[in-house]
Amino acid sequence: MWKLSKGSGNRTVPGFKDFTVRKGHVILGFAFCVICVIAGLSCSYRLSNSEPTEVRRLSTGSLLPHLRILTSQAYSDDEVPTTERASESMDSRTVVESLEDVKLGDENDGVPQGCDSNAELKVYMYDLPPEFHYGMISAFEPKIGKIWPANASQIPPYPGGLYQQHSPEYWLTSDLLTSNMQNREAPCTAFRVERWEDADFVFVPFFASLSYNRYGKVTDQMLVEEGSNMKHSLYKDKNEELQAKLVQYLEKHPAWKASNGKNHVMVIHHPNSMQAVRDRLRNALYVVSDFGRYENETANIRKDVVAPYKHVLPTFTDDSSSFHTRSTVVYFQGSIVRKEGGKIRHELYDLLKDEPDVHFTTGITASEGFHSATRGMRSSRFCLNLAGDTPSSNRLFDSIASHCVPVIISDDLELPFEDDLNYSSFCIFINSTRALQPGYVINLLRNVSSEEWTLMWERLLVVERHFEYQFPSVANDAVNMVWKAIARKLPAIRLTINKERRYMAKPSWRRSKLGAM
Ligand SMILES: *[C@@H]1O[C@H](CO)[C@@H](O)[C@H](O)[C@H]1NC(C)=O
Ligand SMILES: *[C@@H]1O[C@H](CO)[C@@H](O)[C@H](O)[C@H]1NC(C)=O
Ligand SMILES: *[C@@H]1O[C@H](CO)[C@@H](O)[C@H](O)[C@H]1NC(C)=O
Ligand SMILES: *[C@@H]1O[C@H](CO)[C@@H](O)[C@H](O)[C@H]1NC(C)=O
Ligand SMILES: *[C@@H]1O[C@H](CO)[C@@H](O)[C@H](O)[C@H]1NC(C)=O
Repeated sequence: MWKLSKGSGNRTVPGFKDFTVRKGHVILGFAFCVICVIAGLSCSYRLSNSEPTEVRRLSTGSLLPHLRILTSQAYSDDEVPTTERASESMDSRTVVESLEDVKLGDENDGVPQGCDSNAELKVYMYDLPPEFHYGMISAFEPKIGKIWPANASQIPPYPGGLYQQHSPEYWLTSDLLTSNMQNREAPCTAFRVERWEDADFVFVPFFASLSYNRYGKVTDQMLVEEGSNMKHSLYKDKNEELQAKLVQYLEKHPAWKASNGKNHVMVIHHPNSMQAVRDRLRNALYVVSDFGRYENETANIRKDVVAPYKHVLPTFTDDSSSFHTRSTVVYFQGSIVRKEGGKIRHELYDLLKDEPDVHFTTGITASEGFHSATRGMRSSRFCLNLAGDTPSSNRLFDSIASHCVPVIISDDLELPFEDDLNYSSFCIFINSTRALQPGYVINLLRNVSSEEWTLMWERLLVVERHFEYQFPSVANDAVNMVWKAIARKLPAIRLTINKERRYMAKPSWRRSKLGAM
């Protein structure tokens, strides 16, 4: 429901529209003249009396687009084309419909369709050895000589804790892996095909974030805790070794060579993941958490897809809270000592810490933080999301899961699915320059009425499903939303690839396909 109007595309080229209308007039006029000459005077009577109904009838048939535009010009007040009308009245209907959407909910659009090759995306997945994916999870014991879990029940659970915030790699891989298995009981946006030649995209099943967390980051701690250089280098090498092997594997593979990697999808959600080779492989479409730590040539919003963090606080099911039961106006809990970009946290802390209805605390241990943050977010109206050492953070998705209206103060933030979701309808954005004016933030938020707040809260209940990662996946959950976001990149990628092939025609052209790849 929060989708941008699809119809708007029809209206964006006024010059074209004018041209069409004039052309339509000329053709229509000419046609009538010819008929008149043949049919004589009776025809001019018809022209003057029945033209409106004639044309209107034609317009609803919509066989001739330019006639439709003609009528909308001539009867602009009562005959607006349906696409335009629909988008205009969108705002007033949205809430009611979306709420119904949620209640009737997943029965309607969540009916398992099973998967077939009619799924939106055809994806080929490399058969990388288990050490690149499930093999990193200790519960996984592959059969000798086998790469993948034999069926859905053999997929090992993702290791818990904070690692899971960067787990989209696991959910997407599991979804794709089971998409062509029997008894699949989840809707399919992506379908796994056997041959890369048949695929829209080639998926690289490397758990890059888990590799960093397991082998890259753990090491730094070990180094500090144990003073052991050997362990450090051993683990660090493992993360980098996998990346080096991956490059070797890819650059030799015909699927990579065919497009120079441009139709490849790699999930590198942790901002430090795949650090050693991500510039080299940058032709690929990256699934990222934000663009804070990348050169813009390596990753950018045009080429890549932003995926939500998996929230770590539990979803607030059966939320019966209200504006009045949520007595804290503004909530923030987290570190205020941050590197670049996080300066704002410190300054806001000084501005807000003494306000009576504000909870703004810092530096709490992880487990204590978990419970108090759950309680805190569920009893607050607004939750601050401040730029930290990267523009994004898990906190946004925790506040959505807690139905605490997010207040985003992070000017460079790119959000997941923003070409599909209208964040302004359930978040408040504040420009960081204004946010640092004394009193600005707290006054703005105290001034939000119960009605306004409740509207945003209701919308949160509607959109929260778009931020849930799960296996098996459910219609319109984060897994399917990410696949759809990837699908939207396809036309641009095809354009680039086809253009590059212009001068590469080989004698094999006879065998190549005419249309879609
Ligand atoms: C999944 O595969 C394992 C190993 O092949 C098998 O033992 C088990 O019965 C399968 N389970 C289902 C639900 O098919
Ligand atoms: C990268 O950033 C520079 C400087 O801001 C800009 O000139 C350039 O166009 C950007 N490149 C891309 C691919 O966005
Ligand atoms: C997005 O939501 C805001 C707030 O409800 C609204 O003002 C705006 O018109 C919406 N934009 C679109 C494209 O629907
Ligand atoms: C924020 O506001 C300031 C002053 O009003 C303005 O100069 C700046 O361009 C704004 N920044 C953004 C990202 O809109
Ligand atoms: C609250 O909003 C009203 C009307 O929109 C405005 O007059 C008032 O100054 C605002 N108060 C604060 C504290 O911003």
